[in-house]
Amino acid sequence: MLRPEYPIRTERLTLRPFADGDFDDLHVLTGDPEVVRYLYWEVHTPEETRESLARRIGQAALTEEGQWLVLAMELEGRVIGQVVLKWASVLHRQGELGFVLNPAYQGKGYAREASEAMLRLAFEGLGLHRVYGACDTRNEGSWRLLARLGMRREAHFVEDELFKGEFGDQYIYAILDREWRARQATSSR
Ligand SMILES: CC(C)(COP(=O)(O)OP(=O)(O)OC[C@H]1O[C@@H](n2cnc3c(N)ncnc32)[C@H](O)[C@@H]1OP(=O)(O)O)[C@@H](O)C(=O)NCCC(=O)NCCS
Repeated sequence: MLRPEYPIRTERLTLRPFADGDFDDLHVLTGDPEVVRYLYWEVHTPEETRESLARRIGQAALTEEGQWLVLAMELEGRVIGQVVLKWASVLHRQGELGFVLNPAYQGKGYAREASEAMLRLAFEGLGLHRVYGACDTRNEGSWRLLARLGMRREAHFVEDELFKGEFGDQYIYAILDREWRARQATSSR
């Protein structure tokens, strides 16, 4: 079970659950074809964004397997992205990490900063053993970030999913709790 205390502060960001006032910032993410290109959703209408905001507001804790923790990345009062953690397996202590960033804020290390905080919640807060990330092999921004987080490429699945009308390849990246702890020890030296 994971019920983080909010807000969570990183060097430059505040991480917190989504709130009613986040519609405009969220619609920048959900309404942009480039942003959703490798995501499972299509571009949202304003009505769909309203529905997804309502859902996100309730995704502030992990109480059972299969749930997603969805946090807004806030910078100077604006939501610039989201970082998510799925409690994929209670028995096997597995989680899945994901991220989406407003294109105007990409290339500045914000997704990495938020992801590192999420990995801390996963390993220290939830006691997970392994966290993985999955992405389309063409999504270079995503797999480069997974690698920068210290994850290893564990799999290249070939045409394992029918994605947006065509079969696509996927990479799976992952890091274990002991590997994450070793990185923390090195970076704090
Ligand atoms: C995936 C995604 C979140 C990556 O965003 P990003 O901004 O590239 O990732 P980071 O936050 O790690 O930023 C890294 C870049 O910032 C640069 N950077 C600049 N200042 C930095 C700092 N202070 N700290 C760290 N990196 C910094 C890094 O050099 C790196 O640039 P490079 O990739 O050219 O080497 C983004 O591409 C995205 O939202 N894509 C659309 C949604 C999506 O596909 N999500 C993933 C689904 S699987």
